[in-house]
Amino acid sequence: MKLNRWLTLLSPLVLLACSKAPESNPYMASAPAEGVSQVKKGEAVYQRICAACHQLNGQGVPAVFPPLVGSEFVAATDPANLVRITLFGLQGPVTVKGAVYQGIMPPQAPLLKDEEIAAVLTYVRQAWGHTGSAVNPELVRSLRASDQRDTPWTINELPNHGK
Ligand code: HEC
Repeated sequence: MKLNRWLTLLSPLVLLACSKAPESNPYMASAPAEGVSQVKKGEAVYQRICAACHQLNGQGVPAVFPPLVGSEFVAATDPANLVRITLFGLQGPVTVKGAVYQGIMPPQAPLLKDEEIAAVLTYVRQAWGHTGSAVNPELVRSLRASDQRDTPWTINELPNHGK
């Protein structure tokens, strides 16, 4: 077959590749500043994973899933415990904004890469009017390696009771 015939056949595939989201497309280097693209990537992870329980608006479900909006855990200056909870989950009583929850959050470590956890937590710390600092994938990498656990955290096991 002639070369230009091959090119005609291939062009729909190239178009298909280019229509994918920039994050997943190596052919389209993303233009926005790193911080902006991290938040956008984090929003996608949030919608795919966390929203099932904490809800799209981050308000949770009363008495079942605690809110992330206004949560002391989300707002903490040091994001280490936020990373720990997201990596390995949380179980047993926890008080968020004055209400007690007695549930189990499953570990996200097996599902999400370091960059995805950093991105989703950066999103959560900056969405809904929050003004927290970004979370560095390097912090996620080091806590994933140092904390390795088989069971979700209880609040008393976390440094400074999680906050
Ligand atoms: C299957 C449901 C479920 C999913 C999915 C889930 N969580 Fe949770 N999460 C919970 C429950 C339940 C608790 C409270 C656990 C307890 O009672 O000890 C919790 C607690 C938390 C807390 C501490 C309490 C608070 O409200 O601040 C944070 C932070 C948190 N989750 C973040 C996340 C993030 C970020 C994601 C997505 C990467 C996520 N969760 C995915 C169910 C879930």
